[in-house]
Amino acid sequence: MNVNNIFQQEFSIQDGVFIISDESNIENQSQTNDVFSEKWIKYSQEELSEQEALFEFQKKWYLDLYSFKDEDELAAYLSNQEVILDAGCGLGYKAKWFADLSPESSVIGMDYSDAVFVAAKRYKDTKNLFFVKGDIADTKFHNDSLSYISCDQVIHHTENPLNTLKELARIIKKGHEIAVYVYAKKALPRELLDDYFRLATKNISSEDMWEMSEQLTELGKVLTDLNIEIEVPDIPLLDIKGGRMDLQRFIYWNFVKCFWNEDLGKETSISTNYDWYAPSNADRYSIEEFKEMLSLANLEVSVMHTEEACHSGRFLKF
Ligand SMILES: C[S@@+](CC[C@H](N)C(=O)[O-])C[C@H]1O[C@@H](n2cnc3c(N)ncnc32)[C@H](O)[C@@H]1O
Repeated sequence: MNVNNIFQQEFSIQDGVFIISDESNIENQSQTNDVFSEKWIKYSQEELSEQEALFEFQKKWYLDLYSFKDEDELAAYLSNQEVILDAGCGLGYKAKWFADLSPESSVIGMDYSDAVFVAAKRYKDTKNLFFVKGDIADTKFHNDSLSYISCDQVIHHTENPLNTLKELARIIKKGHEIAVYVYAKKALPRELLDDYFRLATKNISSEDMWEMSEQLTELGKVLTDLNIEIEVPDIPLLDIKGGRMDLQRFIYWNFVKCFWNEDLGKETSISTNYDWYAPSNADRYSIEEFKEMLSLANLEVSVMHTEEACHSGRFLKF
C-alpha cells in the first residue's frame, strides 16, 4: 500500500508514526487523549507477561464480540480485506494480530493518544502494519477507501459517537463492514456515579485517579475473596436485576466498578479501573439507542452481540 495515496491531506512522520492530527482543541476529547496516553505508556512498562495475558484475553473476547467462530474464521475474513483500519488501536496489539493473520492486507492502527508511538516501535518489523496519530472522528481518509474497520471499545470515548460512526461509515467501502462496540447502560445507581465521574475527573489529579483505581481494585479483590452469593430481588425502578449472584458482581454491575481479575493480575486490574473512571468521555447506551445510532449512520446490522458490559457487532454499509 502506498500510504501517500490514502489520506486527503499532507501528513508528517514522527518516530515512524504518520501524524494526521496531534491534538484536540475540545476539552473533553483532549482530557480523554491525555488519560489514555498516560494509561498506555504506564501499562506498556508493566511486566510483559501481564500485558500478554491481557492481549490474549482480549483477542478471545474479540471473536465473541464480533461473531467469529475462531481465529481461523477471522483470518479467512481478513484475508478478503485489502485495507484494514483498527480505529482507536491503543497499544496496537489487535492491529498487529490482524496484520499477522492476513499478511496480504495493509493494516492501519489509528489512535489519538501517544500509545501509537509505543505501538510503532514495538511492531516496527511488521511490514504490512502502519500507525497513525489522529482523530477517528475526522480521519482524513478518502471516501469509500477501507475494506474493514474495527472500532473495538473506542467510539464511546470520542466527543460525539454518532458523528464518529458517520465518519467511519463515510470511509468504509460499500458492501463492507465496520465492527463497533459500545458500553451498555447499567443499573441506575452505577449510571449516576459514572455520570458524576465524567464531570468530576478533569478536576482530579491523575495521582488521585490512580490511587482511587488501586483502592477500587482492592475492594474488588476483598469482595471476590469473600466468595459469597446473595439472593437479589428485582428492583425495576433502579434497573437492578434480581437473581442469585456473587456479591462482588452485584456491587460491580449495580453500584461501583471495582474490577478485579486474579488471572489478569493486579496492574491490569488497576489499569482497567483507571480506564473506566478517568476519561471525561465514556458514553453508555441501551440496545435501542445503539440501534438508533447505527440507523442514523445508514449502517445495517450483519451480526449483533449483547452482554452485560456492552453491545457490539458488525455493521454493513449498503
Ligand atoms: C479502551 S481503549 C481501547 C483500545 C483498543 N481498541 C483495544 O481494544 O485495546 C480506547 C482507545 O480509544 C482511543 N481514542 C479515544 N478517542 C479517540 C479519537 N477521537 N480518535 C482516536 N482514538 C481515540 C484512546 O486513546 C484509547 O487508546
